[in-house]
Amino acid sequence: MSAPAELVRRLFVLLKAASVYGPENEGYRTRSREAREALAGLLAGSGAVRLEAREDRLFFNGAPIPVPPGEADALFLCGELRRGGAGGLEFRHGAEGQLDAFAFAFKPRAARRTRSLEETAGTLRNAGVSLITALPPPDGEAAAGVPAGPAEVFHRAVETVEHLMSRARAGEEPDLSEAKAAAENLARQVAADPQAMLELAILERFDEYTYAHSVNVSVYSLAIGCRLGLRPALLAELGFGALFHDLGKASLPRELIDKPGELDENDWRLMRRHPLLGAEALLALRRPLDSSLARAISIAFEHHLAFDGSGYPRLQPPRRQELFSRICALADAFDAMTSGRVYAKRAMSPDEALRRMAQGAGTAFDPFLFRVFIGAVGVSRSAPWWLRMAA
Ligand SMILES: [Fe+2]
Ligand SMILES: [Fe+2]
Repeated sequence: MSAPAELVRRLFVLLKAASVYGPENEGYRTRSREAREALAGLLAGSGAVRLEAREDRLFFNGAPIPVPPGEADALFLCGELRRGGAGGLEFRHGAEGQLDAFAFAFKPRAARRTRSLEETAGTLRNAGVSLITALPPPDGEAAAGVPAGPAEVFHRAVETVEHLMSRARAGEEPDLSEAKAAAENLARQVAADPQAMLELAILERFDEYTYAHSVNVSVYSLAIGCRLGLRPALLAELGFGALFHDLGKASLPRELIDKPGELDENDWRLMRRHPLLGAEALLALRRPLDSSLARAISIAFEHHLAFDGSGYPRLQPPRRQELFSRICALADAFDAMTSGRVYAKRAMSPDEALRRMAQGAGTAFDPFLFRVFIGAVGVSRSAPWWLRMAA
């Protein structure tokens, strides 16, 4: 691996470590030392180096950094730069000494709000980072109509969901056309490059639960839909419905959604209402009921029903889930288990989550779709070591 590619890998690992560990943690310290060594090596003999992002590719001092296909570290860094309103970073002589301060100021944060370049520069300044500068994005990258790469499509979808949920929480009508566009882009990207999108979904498991979760569920659902050979229009409907599957949570108290640790019986009683609340919120929209909205309503209502008719809401007589709900139920459980925020005390590795889910094939989950799902996410299981690192 070239020295610049090594730096990208080390920075990626460092930022992920900074988002889960404190600065004194031993695991963090090791990664910090490795990143500092990689940076110091590149800075030796040159006053400054530049890492720049363009169309989901990284450039080192103007030269493209060769990245093996399927590696997500470059995608991740491009996404983080974009979210920070930056097109790159400049590291000047001695910058390795400020790398810890940089990592904690720049790490992915719970609120996935996009920042302006000025805001990012201010955050770095306040953290005492003077030798690492956020560079402006290349001129007119967005204006020139550069097609969005996987990281951009993914993060735009997260922002769309964040926007939708905050509108719903404020009692305002969500803008469905924005969500439709996000779902169509996700569907196109998953069909074109499923591995890149699945890797992004796996990476986002540390982030604020509901927004990234909805996009992850959409990506996993689309990966199943692609394997089933669904035509593009149906894929877009599946992705759209999945984005809204937890809309009902916007009607629940915020403290409950963000509650750390395990939920008690009373919390669960409230939480079990979100499928019905979501379906009601979608039905209450002042707009004609088209087929994607109808599917979204059934996904919101049925995604916690089980394949064998158990689950919630409890229905008498039991009802069989629609195909899209069975797909979303798998995607939902997988993301919940690998994120470790809800239903489980700790994040499981993808392999461990699949092993656990296998016990529910035929009862909780559609056994045929479960096999399709393993085939879809299986591409990541043979992928690089970092996929398991965070678990
Ligand atoms: Fe749910
Ligand atoms: Fe969910």
